[in-house]
Amino acid sequence: MKKDLVSLQDLTSSEIEGIFTLTDQLKKNKQKFKAVLAGKTLALIFQKPSNRTRVSFDVGMYQLGGNSVYLAPNEINLGVRESIEDVAKTLSRYVDGIVLRTFAHKNVVDLAKFATVPVINGLSDFSHPCQGLADIYTIREKFKKIKGKTLAYVGDGNNVAHSLLFAAAKSGMNMQVGTPKGYEPQESVVAESEKQAKANKATVKIFNDPISAVSGADVIYTDVWASMGQEEEAAKRKEIFKDFQVNKNLVSKANKGYLVMHCLPAHRGEEVSAEVMDSAHSVVFDQAENRMHVQKAILIKLLR
Ligand code: CP
Ligand code: NVA
Repeated sequence: MKKDLVSLQDLTSSEIEGIFTLTDQLKKNKQKFKAVLAGKTLALIFQKPSNRTRVSFDVGMYQLGGNSVYLAPNEINLGVRESIEDVAKTLSRYVDGIVLRTFAHKNVVDLAKFATVPVINGLSDFSHPCQGLADIYTIREKFKKIKGKTLAYVGDGNNVAHSLLFAAAKSGMNMQVGTPKGYEPQESVVAESEKQAKANKATVKIFNDPISAVSGADVIYTDVWASMGQEEEAAKRKEIFKDFQVNKNLVSKANKGYLVMHCLPAHRGEEVSAEVMDSAHSVVFDQAENRMHVQKAILIKLLR
């Protein structure tokens, strides 16, 4: 049966570890994998802009011997020009896998349901699983051992926060989230990750102040205050989130040797100060690079 990557809810702890082990091999010996996806094609349907996701999937496929076809928002025009079901069934006759970046998470669920080839979520309003995996992989690379480490997420309880909650819990990392009231991650995500965390001897804590979230943290993570599709709320959110900026004062509450992370794109002077973003603690470009390595492992697991 084909396998999809719609949300990290669908992956077990050992499947995640399996992706990380393969990623280690891919980073160590690029040559060995240069033809593993020869003759395979990946479709990239994007309804939102992208730098990292698009380029890393495109180049990743090329490095594995395959190729990709990019479909911009106005080309497929998912659900408008043609139903998701018809798009899924048609593309399944041409390609070996589909990445979808979209608004409603249900679009990814539906595409996966009707496609006969693997579907990978390249970001939806609910989650960003490839990001979450690359982030935990990066932490694992930096600290070697991740079990028992604490990841603080400060800002909006959005798609990236959801994927981090799932990935951290399944990897045995503690997670401390700090958001303004009303901007917490979805309750169902918190409940599910609490359950997973407990099974892995880790904890999940949700706060409405940034200092509590960052206290005792080994990693401080933030993301934009207004995600793609929320541009009209940007001014209002700037006001609501202003005390949640990751700056010099806030990071001083974290553990010695802390890492600063951001999925990018970043807005220096809003969710993160330039000083912190560009400091020696920041690993944001290692994260960006690891998107490609981790996604190559995902592509091999799903497409081969
Ligand atoms: N982090 C991330 O997904 O970046 P893009 O939006 O540029 O793909
Ligand atoms: N939360 C952001 C992540 C971008 C990679 C968004 O959805 O726009």
